[in-house]
Amino acid sequence: MEKPIYKRIVIKMSGEALAGNKGFGLDWDTIKAICNDIRAVVAMGVQVCIVVGGGNIWRGRSGVGMDRVNADYMGMLATVINAMALQDALEQLGVEVRVQTAIEMKELAEPYIRRKAIRHLEKGRVVIFGFGTGNPYFTTDSAAALRAAEMEADVILSAKNVDGVYDCDPNQNEDAKMYQALTYIDVLDKGLKVIDSTAVSLCMDNNIPIHIFGLNPYGNIQKAVCGEKIGTLIEGVKE
Ligand code: GTP
Repeated sequence: MEKPIYKRIVIKMSGEALAGNKGFGLDWDTIKAICNDIRAVVAMGVQVCIVVGGGNIWRGRSGVGMDRVNADYMGMLATVINAMALQDALEQLGVEVRVQTAIEMKELAEPYIRRKAIRHLEKGRVVIFGFGTGNPYFTTDSAAALRAAEMEADVILSAKNVDGVYDCDPNQNEDAKMYQALTYIDVLDKGLKVIDSTAVSLCMDNNIPIHIFGLNPYGNIQKAVCGEKIGTLIEGVKE
């Protein structure tokens, strides 16, 4: 078996990915396949945190005409549904999981406590962070960057429906080229929308690489953990 190159990772899972081909809601076959991949990574001894989006249930911007703050809180609630779905699927595979939420929902999950999360990781449990950062005007990309900094994670693995970062929309332009590597500044300068600028800045300030790749074919999370060159790696300039 290949060796992992990271000790502690944050997986940023897009909400849309959990919908599989349905485009909305939860597709259990997809979720099981993703969780199998995560189980294999845990079995390698890698400490795993997950930050999940909510776009399969609600997008802040889908509330046209709605108060932005209300819409953002609804999106954060959607991430908790996804966190609980992932918890259930992972537990069915025998993986120990703890869900922590950014605002207290004590009846259904632990509140976010940094030191407790770190102890869970040390004990080999997967920790899923729900409710984003707990604040409106931030995305779950920013939540992943924040938690990665707090957990002192080695990398953010951003598993998406697209297989990497392109110079233009690959669905509309057949000549679109995928970048294998980018610097944080490249992403900000080029205005690449694949990850939001707040998250990129936070990762740049804390030297956390961001590896963006497609969830499909399943097994890509293991490949990324073992340092295989898939997707796009965003990091600082090497000195
Ligand atoms: P250790 O400290 O290693 O024993 O961790 P642990 O998570 O097993 O112990 P703890 O007694 O803190 O938790 C036991 C169970 O209760 C776990 O499934 C936790 O996720 C859950 N739990 C702990 N605190 C809370 C909480 O505030 N709310 C909810 N809903 N569950 C909690």
